[in-house]
Amino acid sequence: MTRVLHRHLHRKPPVAAGGEGLFVIGADGRRYLDACGGAAVSCLGHGHPDVLAAMHEQIDRLAYAHTSFFTTEVAETLADELVRNAPAGTSHAYFVSGGSEAVEAALKMARQYFVEIGEPRRAHFIARRQSYHGNTLGALAVGGNAWRRREFAPLLIDVTHVSPCYPYRDIGEGESPEAYGRRLADELDRAIVAAGPGRVIAFVAETVGGATAGVLTPVPGYFRAVREVCDRHGALLILDEVMCGMGRTGTLHACEQEGVVPDLITIAKGLGGGYQPIGAVLAQKRIVEAMSRGSGYFQHGHTYLGHPVACAAALAVQRVIARDGLLARVRASGEAFGGLLRRRLGEHPHVGDIRGRGLFWGVELVRDRPSRAPFDPAIQLHARVKREAMARGLMTYPMGGTIDGARGDHIVLAPPFIAGEDSLREMVERLAPAIDAAIASV
Ligand SMILES: Cc1ncc(COP(=O)(O)O)c(C=O)c1O
Repeated sequence: MTRVLHRHLHRKPPVAAGGEGLFVIGADGRRYLDACGGAAVSCLGHGHPDVLAAMHEQIDRLAYAHTSFFTTEVAETLADELVRNAPAGTSHAYFVSGGSEAVEAALKMARQYFVEIGEPRRAHFIARRQSYHGNTLGALAVGGNAWRRREFAPLLIDVTHVSPCYPYRDIGEGESPEAYGRRLADELDRAIVAAGPGRVIAFVAETVGGATAGVLTPVPGYFRAVREVCDRHGALLILDEVMCGMGRTGTLHACEQEGVVPDLITIAKGLGGGYQPIGAVLAQKRIVEAMSRGSGYFQHGHTYLGHPVACAAALAVQRVIARDGLLARVRASGEAFGGLLRRRLGEHPHVGDIRGRGLFWGVELVRDRPSRAPFDPAIQLHARVKREAMARGLMTYPMGGTIDGARGDHIVLAPPFIAGEDSLREMVERLAPAIDAAIASV
């Protein structure tokens, strides 16, 4: 019997009682090797002593102060450090408690910006199919995952969804990646025109598509073309790096590798590494200045904005990443991890695609490799893989609906940045039989 309203009402998950490095430890003593950081969260693994010490110190000093009364030294320092390392032109960080809150804040900040500068007719967002931006109503509306949206569709604001950047399935025969990227940017251009002149607030996209699409890395030039289209129409570019940001792909911000600077970046998961719930919006100076010159405030707020213990945890996580050179390590071990996955699973008859960057990888499963036909969604292959992996003491992050919200299965892998090559190999060695057992069970 449980009084917790769990994610699934007919299944109670195992009890997690401890955490140690790359392992989550069950109440029964079982050790689960964490190959996904939960949902690409635990970038420093579990129980990192430096982060725990920073949190203890902050709790002893001050656990909470409402931001309508006070700021705190720790929030100011975290903002200074994030802004210093953010793309050029970033001037401020707005701290919230997670990814969905970061996306909601970014949507509202973008809208307020246009109200402040005298363009209130801009009231429309464009985003991508198969994207995930969170589960609150605004974030769900911009998200493009059909399965998550369906039940709540009557409650969602009207958003235009354009194609994701999904070369494995959508690149044309003989089309170069660059031409494919330009084709997608042209589609965005047409969507902005169709919404009407001066109507679009922003295009919202995950720099590297994560949870619902199984790690879609953008083709070269795609985001530069997107940035150009947004600029031409006076629309903002909001990049959602809640999952792919804060070092996950080998640079602090994934957009650094695309050569673009968005107007707003949302970050969360790896920001606090799971030690505390925290997210943020990193805003360009012109956005903040428009609010400063206009209303003088951002018309938003939550009770736990800039929570001191969350800021202390995030500051410690980010300092460990910098001190220990973990971005370079993510790049190197990411290469190795990709190689291990390709060697072990590259020829697997039911692995259609292996894609990723840094320590952020997706494995797309197919019933038939030549036709890329997916498995019947009714068999819930992704859930079987997750179960079989857990039975082998391995945490992975599989999901269904990869192709269109209904069809397709993928597994997201997002190991902690501290994972050594032996552990990465062990993850792959446990994953392969879990996939085989899942397929054998259908
Ligand atoms: C890209 C992206 N945006 C937003 C969210 C929502 O974050 P949260 O679950 O912390 O609200 C997620 C969560 O997976 C995400 O991957």
